[in-house]
Amino acid sequence: HARAAHADDADGPSVIAHRGASGYAPENTLAAVDKAAELGIRWVENDVQRTKDGRLVVLHDNSLRRTTDVEEVFPDRAPWNVKDFTAAEIARLDAGSWFGSEYAGARVPTLEQFVDRLEHHHQKLLLELKSPGLYPGIEQQTLKVLANEGWLDRHHVAGRLVVQSFDADSIRTVHGLKPAVKTGFLGTPPVSDLPEYAEFTDQINPSYGSLSMSYVSSVHAFTGPHGRPMEVLTWTVDAADTARLVAGYGVDGIITNRPDVVRDAVGEA
Ligand code: G3P
Ligand code: CA
Repeated sequence: HARAAHADDADGPSVIAHRGASGYAPENTLAAVDKAAELGIRWVENDVQRTKDGRLVVLHDNSLRRTTDVEEVFPDRAPWNVKDFTAAEIARLDAGSWFGSEYAGARVPTLEQFVDRLEHHHQKLLLELKSPGLYPGIEQQTLKVLANEGWLDRHHVAGRLVVQSFDADSIRTVHGLKPAVKTGFLGTPPVSDLPEYAEFTDQINPSYGSLSMSYVSSVHAFTGPHGRPMEVLTWTVDAADTARLVAGYGVDGIITNRPDVVRDAVGEA
């Protein structure tokens, strides 16, 4: 394996399976978690949304349409938004067939089911609050579910959980509610704004296209809310040469649909 030269991290950046190992199994399903585990990948990213009856489920889009058979099962419910369906209705949907017939019957997992499967594999969770503006109170609710599942104990909080969002206010809220939990902001704020971000977020997580070595160094120069240098995770990197490029910039983690490719290029599992 080619290994990136890393001054302070001989093992290279962490490799994070985006929506599970979503290049090989249907995104955000337990099958995608299992696939990441099979590849030896420790970190899994997901996206959290809320149902009509207030359950948290794991799905990327606000609508069920792209990744389930909702259009066939509920033809008159356009635009098929998660927030307009109950958890029981969503549990009937097939979230695997669109990806491949071998995944027929895969379900949209609840957050509880998702973290149970991660626990089973001893994996770690990068949890994204996908559209917190649509779901008032989702920060508190997510923390409550994680607490009920045993994911806010000292062991998980110290190294197995990060909560991230594109919505800075949402991340600030998570930090305020439970300061021990590590947080990440999705985006590339100007360097001049980083002192403000450093008060509530441990990570700045940009799209790889907006990344440079000097930006990564700038983020690392700030101390986050837990007294350590702020980290940079970048997304979504699926090619070995791009993975080597961003590893050379000094990123702390790479979020990828093809975690085996990235791990073999640069990283640790
Ligand atoms: O984890 C970062 C990445 O997932 C953000 O974009 O659209 O894939 O949720 P998106
Ligand atoms: Ca995401």
